[in-house]
Amino acid sequence: MVDTVAQAGAYLHHLAFESSQPDRLAAFYGDIMQMEVARISDREWRCEGPARRMVVVPGQDKKLAYAGLAVRDADGLKLIRDRAESEGVAIHASPSPYFREGAFAVKDPDGNLIVFGLSKPEYVKAMGWPRANHAMPIWGPVQHLTYRTQNMDGFYDFYHRKLGFRMVDRVIKQDGTIATIFVTSNHEHHTIAAFAGDRTGMDHHSYEAGEWNYLRDWCEHFASRKVQLMWGPGRHGPGHNLFAFIEDPDGNWIEISAELEVIHDRPCEDWPHEPRSLNTWGKAILRS
Ligand SMILES: [Fe+2]
Repeated sequence: MVDTVAQAGAYLHHLAFESSQPDRLAAFYGDIMQMEVARISDREWRCEGPARRMVVVPGQDKKLAYAGLAVRDADGLKLIRDRAESEGVAIHASPSPYFREGAFAVKDPDGNLIVFGLSKPEYVKAMGWPRANHAMPIWGPVQHLTYRTQNMDGFYDFYHRKLGFRMVDRVIKQDGTIATIFVTSNHEHHTIAAFAGDRTGMDHHSYEAGEWNYLRDWCEHFASRKVQLMWGPGRHGPGHNLFAFIEDPDGNWIEISAELEVIHDRPCEDWPHEPRSLNTWGKAILRS
């Protein structure tokens, strides 16, 4: 089966989170994640920085409202829609303000809403950020989203088998059950992943700073705002990326990453479910 989503070159373009205190959450992303905050209405706040966007809507804390994956071109978007329809996946309307007409949404077995679309021109991911003058805002495009799930088979079936995200790495427990699956929709090691656990929802989302120095700059910025790291810095096994984690006021985990593996044509690999797979440098946070 063709990895249709990967073939179409989709990337994580924006996220939308529910919150019981949307104004507080939006202000956090404005100050701590260096985004401009706009209150669009009582139902929507938008936070925008270079190649990173977060929509906040009123609702339940730590709940994904939707994730927006932008596709390279209209042909790719049609490929994904045709594949989803041929697999019997229900198509929903796009709630995203960032995508052009023709965007559509699908819902995974845990109820997570994924929107595929073409970015409006003013929001395309421009990588020509002036790095010689990178101090503010610090470079860090939104890059991946991960879930906690009690239905790993459903995750595999929906994202890989039905939509055609490419399998990249798995973490396998001693009893042979799957602890983690990483899938990608382009050349990045993973754009979505799922950790087996005793709850259903989000695990974390990540901003790819690219280089170690930018990860350092993020940590210095957090320190200046008295936001302590909750994990890291460390280096993951799968993806080989450097990482540091903080938590937002709702309890969502935010990762700043660097040196994430670029995938070309290697096959899916299995990793043992042990602390070193999560952090080769130090302490691990095992989800199950
Ligand atoms: Fe991550």
